[in-house]
Amino acid sequence: MAHKPFKAVIPAAGLGTRFLPATKAMPKEMLPVVDKPAIQYVVEEAVSAGIEDVLIIIGRNKNNIANHFDSMPELEVKLREKGDLDRLAKVEHSTDLADIHMVRQGEPKGLGHAVLRARSHVGDHPFAVLLGDDLIDERDPLLTTMLGEYDRHGASVVALMEVDPDQVHLYGVAAVEATDTDGVVKITGLVEKPKKEDAPSNYAVIGRYVLGPEIFDVLEHTEPGKGGEIQLTDALQEQAADPDAGVYGVVFGGRRYDTGDKLDYIKAIVQLASDREDLGAELRPWLKDFAAGL
Ligand code: G1P
Repeated sequence: MAHKPFKAVIPAAGLGTRFLPATKAMPKEMLPVVDKPAIQYVVEEAVSAGIEDVLIIIGRNKNNIANHFDSMPELEVKLREKGDLDRLAKVEHSTDLADIHMVRQGEPKGLGHAVLRARSHVGDHPFAVLLGDDLIDERDPLLTTMLGEYDRHGASVVALMEVDPDQVHLYGVAAVEATDTDGVVKITGLVEKPKKEDAPSNYAVIGRYVLGPEIFDVLEHTEPGKGGEIQLTDALQEQAADPDAGVYGVVFGGRRYDTGDKLDYIKAIVQLASDREDLGAELRPWLKDFAAGL
């Protein structure tokens, strides 16, 4: 690795309007998925890939996120007095996870704009961007594979998944070419949220990116695109079209849980809970009975 260590950037400044009223006074990243806030899964994913420095781009109602990754002395003392060491470990775990930093986005002007807000903290390190709406199962080390591909190509890497053509309008979509590595493609073009008939393929960008610091210069001059927002997809399209830059895709076939809307969020909780040792054994037969009665 001939570069500085990877950092992680987690944009968490969205308004979360799809989850109102739950997100009236709380960021959607703090919604629990079983018993952990969604954003903790994402920080844990970065840490398991070996990243220690995590920058969270926050919006309004930031205090909940900051408090979650901070120590909570009153609660810790109470749990220690009660001898409840299991829960104490859970409370302390999120504090000790990583070196967490925060920066405010101010006006939300799109994902590209959020990433640009990371510039002064990230400096000349390469970095991973992890979007909290996509949770990747901890048994499927997607990010580790992507960091490896960044090292191999020295170019931006995005995670791709094949989706139903009726879903392409929800994603950045890539035109791809095979490489000599199975599961890794070269991206020849990218379009943000195309109509089904305009999509170059059904390879959708899911919320994981590994980028070099050069992306900041591109984002500085990226004009507002789809929805009037500065799109990370458009900056990556510029790199894909530049023979000196290039963008690669890691095609993910593992377990991904979308928590971006209500129905998917409920499905994610059910899937993750049925896999858990402490809940699955009771939940699975109950689910079967429940479904049989519908
Ligand atoms: C963002 C990106 C999009 C990407 C998606 C992945 O869209 O703009 O290119 O495919 O995340 O989840 P959003 O879902 O924030 O609208």
